[in-house]
Amino acid sequence: MTSPADPTTASSGSSAADPARASSGAAPAAATVTRVTVLGTGVLGAQIAFQAAYTGSDVVAYDIGEEQLAVARARFDGLAATYLTPQGLPGATEQSTQEALGRVRFTADLAEAVADADLVVEAVPESLDLKRDLYGRLAPLLPERTIVATNSSTLLPSDLVDSTGRPDRFLALHFANLIWVNNTAEVMGTPATSPEAFRTVVEFARGMGMVPIELRKEQPGYVLNSLLVPLLNAASALLVKGVADPETVDTTWRIGTGAPFGPFQIMDVVGLRTVHAVSVAGGPEGRAFAEMIQRDYLDRGATGRESGEGFYSYPAADAE
Ligand SMILES: NC(=O)c1ccc[n+]([C@@H]2O[C@H](COP(=O)([O-])OP(=O)(O)OC[C@H]3O[C@@H](n4cnc5c(N)ncnc54)[C@H](O)[C@@H]3O)[C@@H](O)[C@H]2O)c1
Repeated sequence: MTSPADPTTASSGSSAADPARASSGAAPAAATVTRVTVLGTGVLGAQIAFQAAYTGSDVVAYDIGEEQLAVARARFDGLAATYLTPQGLPGATEQSTQEALGRVRFTADLAEAVADADLVVEAVPESLDLKRDLYGRLAPLLPERTIVATNSSTLLPSDLVDSTGRPDRFLALHFANLIWVNNTAEVMGTPATSPEAFRTVVEFARGMGMVPIELRKEQPGYVLNSLLVPLLNAASALLVKGVADPETVDTTWRIGTGAPFGPFQIMDVVGLRTVHAVSVAGGPEGRAFAEMIQRDYLDRGATGRESGEGFYSYPAADAE
């Protein structure tokens, strides 16, 4: 849905103003990443690990205990099956998905998980304290060369960097849910991130089949959510104020911009629980919208596209 229409033109590339380039203007060398450790095997961690393995990396998937790893194994099997469906990855085969599964090793031992990692991607719950604690324990275990990337959606890498012990080799690498479809990977460093680490992660993302989106400075919400959130807020305000219904808003947006989806269709894909959680933390219009979502949708189990029912109805085969 959010994939650029033409991935070949979507990467921001680099320019002389780009901090990810050496001051000489020459592109810094990117190290090759072949060994990847993913910390956290939840919704995004599993997708990142599986896609990295699918594209040839040797992957270690780490989580806090055997119970979580059992859930993770089922998740990975589910991803392998999903890749073969029409909603999956074009060209995926039984062989390619099984080979990907064969490149993933699971462990609940942090030291062992990172002992030979070129790159560690952190995808643990969105909690500042939890992430900082993890980075603190990670620091003495990492090989010198290892680059560490956070997939955090709302924390800036600057919020975390002092707990990593490697400011020059730390940055954000942010994927979107359903990463094989919504295949942007936003790369965002801190002022301390080295150009080499930045380029290494950009090239790793490209090798994973992502369209790397290079941010030149830190920005809450990266590029995508900096654009999307104001759009969704404006749409919900039109509904709350009684100006227009969801179909009218979406039709206007689609015809006026040529976009394939309107904001309420996007909210159905994001999921109404998430939309509710974000709205409830907003201003008066946001809270009124959250109340409406709770009363008219969530209370009757309509959580958006995943449940088959949200602002729109989706046939069972279409629900994700
Ligand atoms: N879900 C999304 O759509 C989405 C999209 C982009 C980015 N993100 C970001 O990805 C990160 C993870 O989100 P998620 O939705 O995958 O979360 P999730 O709750 O689905 O998964 C988190 C996983 O981390 C594990 N975990 C908990 N504590 C841990 C620790 N100390 N060490 C290692 N693993 C630990 C949990 O057992 C769980 O398996 C967050 O920072 C979030 O902002 C999420």
